[in-house]
Order: sequence, then C-alpha cells, then structure tokens
Amino acid sequence: MENRPVPLSILISGRGSNFRAIAQAIDDGRVPARIALVISNRADADGLKYARERGMATRVMPHGEYASRDAYDRALVAAIREHSVKLTCLAGFMRRLGPAFCHAFPNAVLNIHPSLLPAFPGADAQRQALEHGVKVAGATVHFVTPELDAGPIILQAAVPVKEGDSADTLSARILVEEHRIYPEAIRRLLVESWRIEGRRVVFGDSDATLR
Ligand code: GRF
Repeated sequence: MENRPVPLSILISGRGSNFRAIAQAIDDGRVPARIALVISNRADADGLKYARERGMATRVMPHGEYASRDAYDRALVAAIREHSVKLTCLAGFMRRLGPAFCHAFPNAVLNIHPSLLPAFPGADAQRQALEHGVKVAGATVHFVTPELDAGPIILQAAVPVKEGDSADTLSARILVEEHRIYPEAIRRLLVESWRIEGRRVVFGDSDATLR
C-alpha cells in the first residue's frame, strides 16, 4: 500500500473553520492527506487568507461569473482535475452542486452539515432545529449527491439542545463536533476499507480503499 499523503481539494465560501480543522488534523499526523487545492466562490472568504498564509494553492471562482450552474460545475471539475485529488471536501461552501459536478466525482465529494440528517437539510439548520423543538441536535458528514444534503452518511455526532439556547449558542456547540468528526471521517475513508450499500456507508470488510 502506498503511503504518500492523499491529495484533497477543499471548497469554502467563508470562515473556513472546518477547513482549518482538517488542515490541523493533517499537520498533527491524524489524517494521511495533503491539501492540494482550496477553492472559494467568494474572494473575501476568511478561509482563503489562512490557505494563502499556509502557502496552499488557491483559486477564487465566483459563481456569478459563469453563465449557468452547469457551466460553473464544469469549471470546478476542471480546476479540481488539474490537481488529481482523491477527495473533495465541501467546508461551508454555500453553493449547490449539480449533476455535472457530482457525477464527475462519484463517492468522492464530502460535505459537513450542522444537523443530524435527514433532519433539517438546507440553510439555517441550527435555527430549524431550535424552532422544531428538538432536544438533540448535531452534525453529519455525508457524501454529496445532487439532492440537497441527502447523500450517504459517513459519520454523525449529537449534542444536547439546552434550555435558553440561541441559534448562536447551539451552532457553537455543534461546531466543536464538526471540527472533530470531519477530519475523522476523512481519516476513516482514507485508511479503512469501506463500501456503499444502498444508502449505507459500511466500514470494515471490503477491499476498496482510496489509497
Ligand atoms: C458549518 O456550520 C458547516 O456545517 C456548514 O457551514 C458552516 C461552515 O463553517 N456547512 P466554516 O466555514 O467551516 O467555519
């Protein structure tokens, strides 16, 4: 088995704290990968500053500059293919990706969502959870498919909803878990064998790994 770090691409739109958590886990030797490319659809994303400080390859690709979703998806695919990445991690990338993107990288695009999917897909998941009155919230790492926040689930973590929580306090509690499970999900996909059976990601007894 090869031991070279597996190239990843990361797609961001803003703060980039999940991106930094992944980079930190790689630095710490917890995830056998390297970040080959960081793409942002926003030039002012804070995460881009971190990427540049770290000397990572970055691309700013504003979606508004493309004629259609399909054209944008295809441009992303081309940019990512230049770096021969094995996994692409959406980390607060606030742009839906359509079939042209998802089908280009089957079972190789991950996302983190701040709810226990399939509950509360889409925007403002933490607020949706509060308004629904759930007592347990959480985070989900899942494969990306053209259906919003609906691909096979890789890892989840739960947090309690506390009396008096606001969307901000609940988001902060969930974010701690996001930063833990996103690197862990990547690590498992890279070092363990796994397969997808229907909707289930099954670890442990297959020959297929990404390395
Ligand atoms: C996170 O809550 C993530 O779950 C959601 O968008 C937010 C991104 O935060 N998809 P950050 O940019 O990683 O700090």
